[in-house]
Amino acid sequence: MQAWVIGNWKQNPATMSEVNALLETLLATVTDDSDRTSCQLMVAPSCVHLATVGQRLQNTPILCAAQDISAHSDSTGAYTGDCSAQQVADAGASWTIVGHSERRQYHQESHDALMYKLKHAFTQNLGVIFCVGETQEQYDNKQTLEVLNDQLAVVKDLLDKASHLAKTIADNLIIAYEPVWAIGTGKVPTVDEVSTTHDYIKTTLAGFSEALTQTRVLYGGSVNADNAESFAASPVIDGALVGGASLKAESFLAIADAF
Ligand code: G3P
Repeated sequence: MQAWVIGNWKQNPATMSEVNALLETLLATVTDDSDRTSCQLMVAPSCVHLATVGQRLQNTPILCAAQDISAHSDSTGAYTGDCSAQQVADAGASWTIVGHSERRQYHQESHDALMYKLKHAFTQNLGVIFCVGETQEQYDNKQTLEVLNDQLAVVKDLLDKASHLAKTIADNLIIAYEPVWAIGTGKVPTVDEVSTTHDYIKTTLAGFSEALTQTRVLYGGSVNADNAESFAASPVIDGALVGGASLKAESFLAIADAF
């Protein structure tokens, strides 16, 4: 299975000129050396940078994703501050992240809100990188699989409610396993721990629908150029969702080289 390496730029960089510099370095490296990586690359800029990045990446090997979409409507409406699935698709995104732990934590995103985000994304033909993962406390209490089970139930509930989207979901869903305690901390689970968790996620998805047996599961949380190779060696780690290390073209591409 082709590995996917995705850069989540979060609320970075601070300025449009820094965004452009990062983007041009990435593009120059990837287009000058087309054998550089066999991975599918994608970046997720902040919503204010999305249209510029999305347009620049049209017809290039790098895909563009939004970091989030509105739960309220897939199109237009009186939802101040929101960006809809249709709007981000029109701006050049072909994917969106949904359910990142920073959204869950700072914006109290509920199970239903996440289900509507998934539904809106698939309705507008956006792929979804759906993030799941346990907190430090849940990890310490050995509740990881239980937490993932609850978080993945969003996918099951959507399948139950919108069976007409089953094929779209199967073709356009990626799960990113991101233990909250590993995000931006430099702490990482062992490759065996991640592999066990990914096996569980894959088995759970397959239990929801046979069509989900090929769903990619990426690992995210303090992935860098030094540890990427160890994650890449696991047959059930299908790529990486990268935060901090995706803000420098060289470290992002070094991670891709490892997969
Ligand atoms: O979505 C990516 C992310 O949360 C991981 O961030 O900085 O630990 O690579 P980081």
